[in-house]
Parts: sequence; C-alpha cells; structure tokens
Amino acid sequence: MVDVSRSLARCPAISKGYRIGKAILLTMVKKDISARAEELRQRINYHNYRYHVLSSPVISDYEFDLLVRELQALESEHPEILSPDSPTQRVGGQPAERFERVPHPAPILSLGNAYDADEVRAWFDRISKLDDRVLEIDFSVEPKLDGLTVVLHYEKGVFILGATRGDGEYGEDITANLKTVRSLPLRIPIAEEKVEAPRRLVVRGEAIILRKDFEEMNRRLEQAGERTYVNPRNAASGALRQLDPKLTAQRPISLLCYAIVEGEDSQPDQQLEVLEYLKRMGFPVPEEIYHCEDLERAISIGEEMARRRDDLPYEADGVVIKINDLELAADLGFVGKDPRGAVAYKFPAQVVTTILRDIGVNVGRTGVITPYAILEPVEVGGVTVSQATLHNFDFVEEKDIRIGDRVLLKRAGEVIPYVIGPVAEARKGDEQPFLLPNSCPSCGEPLERLPGEVAVYCVNATCPAQLVRNLEHYASRSAMDIEGLGIRIAKQMVEAGLVSDVADLYQLIEDDLLTLEGFAEKKADNLLDAIESTRERSLARLINALGIRGVGVTVAVDLARHFRNMNAFQAATQQELEGIEGIGPNIAATIVDWNAQLSNRELLKKLQLAGVWPVEGGGHEGEAGLFSGMTFVLTGKLSTLTRGEAKTLIEQHGGKVTGSVSRHTSYVVAGESAGSKLDRALALGVPILNESGLRSLIEK
Ligand code: IVH
Repeated sequence: MVDVSRSLARCPAISKGYRIGKAILLTMVKKDISARAEELRQRINYHNYRYHVLSSPVISDYEFDLLVRELQALESEHPEILSPDSPTQRVGGQPAERFERVPHPAPILSLGNAYDADEVRAWFDRISKLDDRVLEIDFSVEPKLDGLTVVLHYEKGVFILGATRGDGEYGEDITANLKTVRSLPLRIPIAEEKVEAPRRLVVRGEAIILRKDFEEMNRRLEQAGERTYVNPRNAASGALRQLDPKLTAQRPISLLCYAIVEGEDSQPDQQLEVLEYLKRMGFPVPEEIYHCEDLERAISIGEEMARRRDDLPYEADGVVIKINDLELAADLGFVGKDPRGAVAYKFPAQVVTTILRDIGVNVGRTGVITPYAILEPVEVGGVTVSQATLHNFDFVEEKDIRIGDRVLLKRAGEVIPYVIGPVAEARKGDEQPFLLPNSCPSCGEPLERLPGEVAVYCVNATCPAQLVRNLEHYASRSAMDIEGLGIRIAKQMVEAGLVSDVADLYQLIEDDLLTLEGFAEKKADNLLDAIESTRERSLARLINALGIRGVGVTVAVDLARHFRNMNAFQAATQQELEGIEGIGPNIAATIVDWNAQLSNRELLKKLQLAGVWPVEGGGHEGEAGLFSGMTFVLTGKLSTLTRGEAKTLIEQHGGKVTGSVSRHTSYVVAGESAGSKLDRALALGVPILNESGLRSLIEK
C-alpha cells in the first residue's frame, strides 16, 4: 500500500517545501489532488505511448511503476476523482455474460484479393475505365495484417467503445478487453503535440500479437504445462473474445491502425495523410508504409515485402495497395462488399497439403510428451518440410488427425511449421486413428496426465530422453552457460552412459569425452573447462538450471534474491514461497514437491559435493544479489557518483558493468551529456535510469 503523504509530497504545491501537519495538508490540497491525478494520467499515457507505440521509452519501468502507484494511491483515497479512462482502469472491467451487439457507424468492408501481379494490373485496368482521374493517381502500400479487425470509437478524445468487425454492419462490444491493450490510446491526442481532440473519431485497425511476444507467450505456457497457441492470429482473436478482461490482459496483444471510419470534415483526404494523422493522435500505425507514384512500383514493393515477410515483426498475408486520394476512392464505389479503391495483393501461400506418414512423439525436459508429424516432404514458403508440430494430443484428437491423412500444413515466419488439420474429403478409408501411447517412447515407463493439464507426462526422473533435455537446459545460456554442450553432445553423453544426471558432468574426465565421436583432446579440454567454470555461477542461474516446471529466469531471480543460498531454497515451505512477490500457489507447490523428491535431493547432494553450491556474498560472479544476471552500461556524468563508484555499487549488488549497449543490456545509467550510448538505448528500448533511479532501485 502506498502512503498518500508520499503522493502529496510529489504534488507541485507541496514539493515547494511547505512543512505543515498532515491534516492541514490534506484539506489544503484537496483541489490540487485532482490536478495532480490528471497530470499523472497524462504522464502515464505519454510514457505508455513511448513504450508501447514508439518502442522508445524515456523513463525506466521502475519510474513508470512509481507514477502508476502514485495515481492508484490517489484514486483509492479519493474515489470521487476516478475516471473510467484512467490508465489504472485498463483491467478494471467486470466479466461479461455475453458481448452486446453494436452497430458500426459505416459498413466495415473487406477487400478484393489479387493473387499475382497481373491480377493487380487487372484491378487497375478495371477502375481506370470507370474514372479518368485514376490515370493520374498515386498509391499507399501497407502490410495486410493478419489479426482481428477492430473498430475504435472516441468521443471528445476519450476511448468509449471498441467493437469487432462482426458481419460488417454490427460487431460485438469488446471495449473492456480492448482497454487492456497497452498500445491502444485511452485518450487522444497523446503525444505532446498541440493538437485538439476531435469531437468524434472512429478508427479501424487490427489487433495482433507480435511474433516475438507470441513466441515468448508460448514458451511460458509450455513451461507451465499449459496449452500453447497455434498461431498469433488465433491467440489474439481468442484473447479478445474472452468474457473476462483479466484473461485478455494476460495476453500480449498489440494494435496497429490504418483507417478512419468516421471523423470530422477537416480530416485528411489522402490515405498517407490519414496514417500521419493517426500517428499524431497517438495511434500505433505500421512502420512499413510506402508511397508509390505508379502501380508497377507498388507491385514491386509488394513483392519485396513478400520476400522479407518472415522478418516483419508481425504476421502479414499480403500488402494492401490503396488509392491515396480518398475522395476518388469513395467515388469509385464497391463491387459487392469490396471497395474498388483498394486491393489486397496476397503473398504466395504458405499453406500446402501433404501426406501425414506417421506421428512421432517427443519427450521434453520436464517429461512432457508431445506429438509431431512425420510428413511426405513438401516445399512451403521456399523451404522443404518433412516434420511439423502437432501441438498436443488433444489437438490430434479434436481435429481427428489420422495417419495417412492428407493434411494442411502451414509455415509462418520462424514459427515451426504446424499442421492445421486433415483434408477429410481426401480420405480413402485406410487412414489410421492415432492411439495415445501409454508408455514413454524413451524409457518405457507408464505415462501420466496431471489433473487440470492438457499435457501428458513421463514422470520417470531417470528417463534418458528427459535427461538429454535436462542436460541441454542445464548447459543453456540463461542457465549454467556451458559453451559447447548442446543437445547433440548431451545425447552422445547419455547414450554412452557417461552421465545419469547433471551432477555427473562434474565427474567427467578427458578420457570419458575422448570415447565420444568427434572429440579430440582440445575439444574435450575446452568442454571440461567450460563445465569447471560453472562452479562460479550465481544462485539464480543454478535454480533456473534445475529445470523445475514453471521456474524460468524471472522466477529463479526472485527465488535467489529471497533465499540467498541453496540450503534455504531446499528448505522452502509452501507458505514462505507464496509470500514471495511473483510466486503463486501453483509454482510454490511445484517447488515444494520438487525439493521433496528423493531423486532431486540426491541430485542436490551430488551438486553440493561437486562444489556447485552458490551462496550469496561468496564473491562469485553475479551471486544472488539484487542485480544478479543483469548488465548495466554507464554513460555521461552522474550527479554525485564517479563512474568507478557507480560500477562498484552495481557490482556489489551482483550486477555487471559493460561498455556497450545491446538488446541484452538490463539498464543504461545515464548522466549529464550522455551521448551515443543513450541514443542506442533509446533505439533498442533498453530502460534508462539516472543516478537517483539507480539508487531507488537499490533501496527498493
Ligand atoms: S483497408 C475499406 N488496410 O484485411 C478499407 N485492411 O481482407 C478496407 N486488413 O478484414 C480495409 N491490414 O481489416 C486495410 N493495412 C490494411 C489492412 C487491412 C489488414 C484487413 C481488413 C480486412 C481484411 C480484408
């Protein structure tokens, strides 16, 4: 709970240095409270916009959090100042029983498709016959985003309604869910611009999940034994259709806008100006927008974007070529539900069909068994694919996927190719339903399905397939970071019987490794050195390396910060674990169970005997300090500390100070006359602190 006097101390009227009793202070500043709350809302909206729309934050997450907390404190002390468009209300909505149907102010139309350049040219020929002006036009070319269309209503600059496309005439009211989308402005204009809020504005955009967020989200779900999503579109659309906005808020949805459905007369009459206008108002718009003077140029931009579609930050299934002159576009009218003024030039299909020869099963690190498709090799999106994921056994059952089926296969970006479903019409009758294995394909032990989980597990702690995955995880970059130990070598070691758990790595000698194919002295020595160096790793890394279900880097850092040594971690109780911020009852129970298992106790004993037993303050790299695992970059002249002093301070708390800024940098600490490092941090979205920010982080 935040003390309101702290909030008051930040109030401009008070920060000037009055020293008055708290009671007088409270009455005195009542009218200022609402002004301060308003100022905070504006600042929060602005920093939210810098972070989520511009990807260029100017304050650290911590400083942002302070602003939010202060506003929350003010609003809870003075409920009368609360407003529904306050940034604290993004996740305030109550679960709904169903979505209300709402009319769109104008039809939300779709687009005609062109599947190759000639079809684009044919579209242009058709419209040039209708109107001479077409011969002199220019175009905007935009990515055709593969998400869920949304229609956003603003009254006097306040977001009041958000709807799905529905049938184009009526949509569903998903306002509460859309409010949880961080890049959606709750109020416009948001930036510092001196632009007046339009009286009424209805904007069209696409709710999507960025590729990087999608991958991260699925990784987390998998770690927690939950069902993963097939693709970003399904995940975004599923999340926005949740009746409880709290569930939507858990999904990393983004927004990109591209059209005005209804606005004021003074609004731009060219598509490229519309995009500029939306941007100025604070709406996120796609970055890949082109202005083309002639059609051939627009076609080649489309083809060029098709070639780099996998590098786009989101999934797109084509480009939309639009006549820039919106008045002309409107005059051209429609064919059915498709406006003539724009065309979707689709990228070549990334969906193909092929035969499912067999279904294989994989054993993951935590014992999760997952099915995968063994396919008749087929080319999709320029790559030959012979294996694809089938997600989980429920998916195979729900889609009724049978061995021998012709299946639809999709490859999108770097996401592993996946089977969409069978082509039931192509069945001959000899296709075989898949039977869920009841024993582990690697160790033969019976499989189990844990209550409430979709995943099927092999719970044998000595299962060789799990051991391989465990070794791979133990050695991975964010865990013990053993260079040269990847899945291939882990497999060789297990097959040769050199290791039966991760602690056996510390008993290996050169002769053991020389028995493995591809190992000569130098390679063996390098690997032994790399293993040796892990005795110095931090507590957080070791906890992460143990591979406890649900315990990834973030949780491991929290645990290490709390327990400070392995003995305390091993003795953790459910209650103590639940008391740690960020750790819920499920993870707490998993940790207690893990620690209680005899095989795990024996493993820890072996690690301890091998000297892999990090203790906070033992002088090892990183240790379990506040900044363990974090890297800092110092730039500019700090207000009181010298660079050397700041470095020592960070290192004392387990952090590392490096010279150059990368995406992996945790914080840049910037002082006066900070130069290119600050620019780079801004460009990469690395959080920035000043000296007092650094100090408050430590005090916190
Ligand atoms: S313009 C009259 N621009 O693609 C305006 N649509 O097949 C028509 N879409 O559901 C829409 N990205 O919502 C436009 N940059 C973009 C788009 C886009 C995605 C969606 C659109 C519609 C579908 C049409």
